[in-house]
Amino acid sequence: MLRSVILAASRSSQVERLVATAPFTRDVVRRFVAGAATDDALRATRELVADGQAVTLDYLGEDTTTPEQANATRDEYLALLSRLAAGLTPAAEVSVKLSALGQMFDEQLAYDNARAICAAADAAGTTVTLDMEDHTTTDSTLDILAKLRKDHPGTGAVLQAYLRRTESDCRELASAGSRVRLCKGAYKEPESVAYQSAREVDKSYVRCMNVLMSGDGYPMLATHDPRLIAIGEDRARWFDRDPGRFEFQMLYGIRPEEQQRLVGEGYTVRTYVPYGDQWYGYLMRRLAERPANLAFFGRAVLSKK
Ligand code: FDA
Repeated sequence: MLRSVILAASRSSQVERLVATAPFTRDVVRRFVAGAATDDALRATRELVADGQAVTLDYLGEDTTTPEQANATRDEYLALLSRLAAGLTPAAEVSVKLSALGQMFDEQLAYDNARAICAAADAAGTTVTLDMEDHTTTDSTLDILAKLRKDHPGTGAVLQAYLRRTESDCRELASAGSRVRLCKGAYKEPESVAYQSAREVDKSYVRCMNVLMSGDGYPMLATHDPRLIAIGEDRARWFDRDPGRFEFQMLYGIRPEEQQRLVGEGYTVRTYVPYGDQWYGYLMRRLAERPANLAFFGRAVLSKK
């Protein structure tokens, strides 16, 4: 119920104006978003890499409705990648939302823009991962992924355990050289396509993890859930995956002490670092995830008072 309300608010421009101007907002945003500028993203990346972590950078932008906006997003990624090439690759890669590159109104444009970003990532010695958005975009995103992989085989996919189709998508993508990030899923989805209870989503996550960890690809286990992380560690032992053959991923500002614990254990841990001024949708999805996350945000607000 609460999740639905917050996800509905994430699409409301009125609530966006309210949240954007609230007194506590700046401090909360700063904890979960590296900043508005490329320099902020690079600073956060340098700090994480110095702490032994890998990074994937996301330039925030979702309400892309014109080719000019889509091309501006592409250009920001190209500029970012050329700066990452100066010492921060391959530890840092980029995550891209196809909707920010034009997918909602011109799939060919989104593909062309993504291809330009993949070529720049190749030149910079790193990779691109395509974020996954709501279920209406899954087929289009996987189609574009397949085309991109012909020239850029390191391009990564994201699969969402809450979707009923995902176990089968994992089987399709668990092949040699295939990088797959497995997450629970962050959008409001109907029962026809998605598991609705946390228990069902967790069980699906474990089934999908089993497929990926026993397969030939490179699994990227994206979760903050202590139980799923423990199962991931167990599967790594079971399937003989040493730390270079899979990784854990978490979001910037969430469970940093757990990220460091896993680094200390010798695992590869990649932090997803969002930056840019279009932080609203991202922040609301984090708020919607779990009551535990709401409490976390509440503490963030109170500790700054
Ligand atoms: P969940 O939110 O259920 O939390 C499980 C447990 O983790 C909690 O009970 C608590 O113990 C712990 N926990 C969670 N948050 C905490 C906090 N703030 N502080 C302390 N403990 C906390 N989604 C999507 O749809 N498309 C995408 O492309 C991506 N990409 C992506 C990349 C990366 C690197 C990550 C980590 C996540 C995504 N996601 C995503 C988001 C994902 O789908 C999901 O919404 C969030 O990761 C939250 O799910 P968890 O697995 O963390 O579990």
